[in-house]
Amino acid sequence: MRVLLLGSGGREHALAWKMAQSSILEELFIAPGNAGTKAVGKNVDLSLSDFKGIKKFVIENTINMVVVGPEDPLVNGIVDFFEGDEELSKVPVIGPNKEAAQLEGSKDFAKEFMKRHNIPTAKYGTFTKDTLDAGYAFLEKMNAPYVLKADGLAAGKGVLIIDNLQEAKKELKSMLADAKFGDASSRVVIEQFLDGVELSCFVITDGDAYKKLPEAKDYKRIGEGDLGLNTGGMGAISPVPFANPTFLDKIENQVIIPTIKGLKKEGIVYKGFIFFGIINVKNEPYVIEYNCRMGDPETEVVIPRLKSDLLDLFEGVGTQTLSERDIVFDERSVAAVMMVSGGYPEKYAKGKQIYGLNGITDSLIFHAGTASDGPAVITNGGRVLAATSYGKDLKTALKKSYESIDKIEFDNANYRKDIGFDAL
Ligand code: AMP
Ligand code: GLY
Repeated sequence: MRVLLLGSGGREHALAWKMAQSSILEELFIAPGNAGTKAVGKNVDLSLSDFKGIKKFVIENTINMVVVGPEDPLVNGIVDFFEGDEELSKVPVIGPNKEAAQLEGSKDFAKEFMKRHNIPTAKYGTFTKDTLDAGYAFLEKMNAPYVLKADGLAAGKGVLIIDNLQEAKKELKSMLADAKFGDASSRVVIEQFLDGVELSCFVITDGDAYKKLPEAKDYKRIGEGDLGLNTGGMGAISPVPFANPTFLDKIENQVIIPTIKGLKKEGIVYKGFIFFGIINVKNEPYVIEYNCRMGDPETEVVIPRLKSDLLDLFEGVGTQTLSERDIVFDERSVAAVMMVSGGYPEKYAKGKQIYGLNGITDSLIFHAGTASDGPAVITNGGRVLAATSYGKDLKTALKKSYESIDKIEFDNANYRKDIGFDAL
């Protein structure tokens, strides 16, 4: 198979690393990729919003499968673009079409969907500029803290959790009337606050059958003890010790199965990964969000636990024969610790040379924000790389990741020293 993978983060490096081990891979291209993906495939300079450019590349390089890492091209309809194009319609794209990707692309769509299918989620209301007063009234009836969510994609920044009612009203106005998040906040979902521990669950589906992937926990805050600003994710672990089989079964029965059945019932053909952001409230699962892609950094711990051939699974998605494929997992624990640029998630510098990468033997290093500068590897983003390790238990896996991180250096590097603290 000749595969084009779209994306450039740690998630994509992990997916590329896994696909590169497939017995049915002929050649792997990554667009645009990073300094790490170059070691397992060929990077190509394509913009993810340039569907015509992607088409040209697919035809000229006789690509027979496209795998989409991030949400943007999916929400923008790359699947529909391929399906609607005579020359491309036979090339499967692993990822949902535009309609199905609304599970992530519109919070209101996702909430309405969950309501129709009795999937547990926080109570909510949706408001626009024209119903701002109703939004204020809704807030007045809720208790603090107040959860405000921009309806559309806002690069992970569109959720505000606010303690004070006046502040919440001010923010609601700024989102709706002053377009705080641009078009993404032309509608705002106000939600009941749910108090509990979060967990990320994943399936891959061909629109009919689904296979579960291992669960993971991601550490979103910049600071130790889960304090400080939200980031894209500072580390991840899998399995998650406090996700016991009873709780995982509840997630499957109350969330996963109704979601797959609901999509089918509504005639929405969903092909690709579904990411369920779950919160555990008194041992009951609630859906915080859907994503139409894998998580990052969760992929950097989930994919290393996959023993089966990932391309074989993708082929099953493309040909709707997923039910015939096997999926087997490594029982070991896997931990990933992110090294980030100092200053991230606020202002940070790029272009710092990274030292020590060649000396790592006990961890997989998945690159995120890196680039090549001749033979050197330099930083090129906030999240720079993940050190992923296996262990007989979580503690051993984490120890190895921290030992590897000790050997890697770049100017002003930062990382959390307590990944997994709540699970040990
Ligand atoms: P989202 O982008 O919907 O995942 O929201 C980002 C983060 O905000 C989540 O990972 C949660 O930590 C938090 N969050 C979102 N919705 C709620 C809620 N209803 N109650 C409590 N926390 C929430
Ligand atoms: N790690 C959370 C996400 O990928 O959205």
